[in-house]
Amino acid sequence: MSDESRRSSRELAQEYMSRGDSQGWFEELYRLAQGEMEHVPWADRRPSPLMLQVLAAGLDRPAGECAVVGCGLGDDAEELARRGYKVTGFDLSETAISWCHERWPDSPVRYLQADLLHLPPEMSEAFDLVVEINTLQAVPDALRMRMLAPLAGLLRPGGLLLVVCRMREEDERVEGPPWALCRSELDLLSADHCLENIRFELLIDGEDPPSRRYVALFRRPGA
Ligand SMILES: C[S@@+](CC[C@H](N)C(=O)[O-])C[C@H]1O[C@@H](n2cnc3c(N)ncnc32)[C@H](O)[C@@H]1O
Repeated sequence: MSDESRRSSRELAQEYMSRGDSQGWFEELYRLAQGEMEHVPWADRRPSPLMLQVLAAGLDRPAGECAVVGCGLGDDAEELARRGYKVTGFDLSETAISWCHERWPDSPVRYLQADLLHLPPEMSEAFDLVVEINTLQAVPDALRMRMLAPLAGLLRPGGLLLVVCRMREEDERVEGPPWALCRSELDLLSADHCLENIRFELLIDGEDPPSRRYVALFRRPGA
């Protein structure tokens, strides 16, 4: 990610947030990029290496229905489809979803524009695996707290939720985006939303500069 695209996306986010809109900047950023991936700071043109590590370690169950939350330009969704999952990739941004259709014209992935905070009822408890990479950290704390229930609500009983996000210390202040998460925020998925935490790791990613990331796997009890 170039310093320039990082700086301009932060300015765009701050401009929207100063008007009380924490989410409008995503669509605007994709629209302004005009099909040039270098203008989308998180578009790495490859699946998340940390997701690949988790998949390589094995999830101990057959591939089933999978949701990729905030799927962006689709690299993680495509990788999961290649591995046999029946994937729904959804994103708030209509332009991101159109871009996915253009990038992957023959994809088996079902791409759709949807807001995690207002999901269609048929997505409730519909997935065996839910993948959330760098989307919780893309919104400020108060909004993020409202995303935890719908995120957990996507899981079928027995389903798994993978969260990959930047890490911050409990008393550390961050100027986002991104707004790194502290451990106690992720613990709310267990404390308030009844998911079992079955894996929790702090890893250093391979980015330049490297950052500390939580890789956490949760399971919805039942089944
Ligand atoms: C930082 S990007 C990460 C994209 C992708 N997961 C990746 O790792 O490349 C965050 C994505 O979440 C999407 N997003 C933000 N709020 C959302 C919401 N409420 N529902 C669905 N998607 C959302 C944005 O449009 C953006 O594509």
